[in-house]
Amino acid sequence: MTIKKRKAYELEVIDLAFGGKGLAKPDGFPVFIDRCVPGDVVFAKITKKKKSWAEGKLIKILKESSLRTQGKCQYCNFCGGCKWQQIEYDRQLAYKKRHVTESMEHIGGIKDIRVNDVIGSDPIYEYRNKMEFSCSSKRWLLPAELENDEIKKGFGIGLHVPGTFDKVIDIKQCEIMPSLGNQILDDVRNFIKKSDLPAYHLRSHEGFWRFLMLRHSVAFDTWMVNIITKEKKINVVQQLATELAQNYPQIESIMNNITDAKSGVSTGKEEITLYGKDYIKEKLGKFIFKISANSFFQTNTKSCEKLYSKVSEYAALTGKEVVMDLYSGTGTIPIWLSDQAKMVVGIEIVKSAVIDAKFNAGLNGIENCEFFEGDIKDVLPKLKPKPDVMIIDPPRVGMHKDVVQQVLSISPEKIVYVSCNPATLARDLEMLHPKYDIKEIQPLDMFPHTYHIESVALLLKK
Ligand SMILES: C[S@@+](CC[C@H](N)C(=O)[O-])C[C@H]1O[C@@H](n2cnc3c(N)ncnc32)[C@H](O)[C@@H]1O
Repeated sequence: MTIKKRKAYELEVIDLAFGGKGLAKPDGFPVFIDRCVPGDVVFAKITKKKKSWAEGKLIKILKESSLRTQGKCQYCNFCGGCKWQQIEYDRQLAYKKRHVTESMEHIGGIKDIRVNDVIGSDPIYEYRNKMEFSCSSKRWLLPAELENDEIKKGFGIGLHVPGTFDKVIDIKQCEIMPSLGNQILDDVRNFIKKSDLPAYHLRSHEGFWRFLMLRHSVAFDTWMVNIITKEKKINVVQQLATELAQNYPQIESIMNNITDAKSGVSTGKEEITLYGKDYIKEKLGKFIFKISANSFFQTNTKSCEKLYSKVSEYAALTGKEVVMDLYSGTGTIPIWLSDQAKMVVGIEIVKSAVIDAKFNAGLNGIENCEFFEGDIKDVLPKLKPKPDVMIIDPPRVGMHKDVVQQVLSISPEKIVYVSCNPATLARDLEMLHPKYDIKEIQPLDMFPHTYHIESVALLLKK
């Protein structure tokens, strides 16, 4: 069978591929199709055709796989938030483990590494402590809604159809956010609909309402509402804030971030506190953390505690070590390790995160953590005490190759590498491998119903 672009074919999905898509192989030619489960027979239209592979769009499931399960969410066949709800959770974990192992072998060229079974998330719904919803004046209609002439393409607030920046599904019930968040979302939707102000349009750059960010503290069961608008119209957003604060005593903070930036970012050029404090507090283990609207904080609080416990276990500190934490964010790992080490030094590029890290250390009465602001590749060579243990938790793109060389030249006895991207983990471990034994990798699920997987690797100097 010769696969051609824009043509549709009946295909049997035989596996799940890198990036979570279903894989069909008609006459050995790989075709990747989103939202499929191995065993499905589907009708798919080819949207992209390259020399050695193609991508297809699922049109219809002709025969359902016995591995398919009913997703809890009413939007799970359309929304970009979580695309794996149709796969049983245990099976999701098995695929994630294989993804880590295969990345090591195929990208890192490293074989025979011990990759443990994935530590699952508990809960697997209502686990996200932060959600960001986009506003649109012309919401995207679900197929069932298209059949109903009464439903109009008016204002919507929700999540994007995957791969699109302008198609917003009007989400009434998001299953991965704690349920009160859905009530707050609905109140904001109703307020905006009545407000006579349009949603921001990403092409014309006109309109007012941009995003709604909700943060939830698991430990204290409190909420932050962050309304992101293009302009400053205090009277309007203050009225919304007053209504929300009256309706929900659990809301501790209501912020307004204002930005006219053309890219779809939610960080304001100006930030105004409309109600309460400009942060909420969360607990990890026995430590308390301040989280501002724009701070980085791991999005699954319960899994984050398991992740940091694994970091502690691998670091196996005795109280005498100097520890260095590269990419330290708001200081959560240094603070977590503070009573297990002599000293912990964190390096982080975002100024506000470093300010939060110092504040968080003070909040917990910790005096043996120091934080440095700047790009690791500039800061690391200047820092004096040689670390016994290094923790490395880079963003998805992994480590800069200069930083890898700096780490190799400092060569601490032990490295604990935390990664949210198996591909860059494999690439970086390959570079560290000549000097380090990779003892084991522990994958850990922070993101149920998505193909994303967090991993912790233990490296010992040869
Ligand atoms: C995956 S987060 C880890 C944060 C923290 N370890 C945690 O668990 O919350 C990665 C952090 O690296 C920071 N970062 C990214 N590039 C950096 C660089 N070149 N130098 C220093 N920090 C950087 C980001 O701002 C972010 O806070």
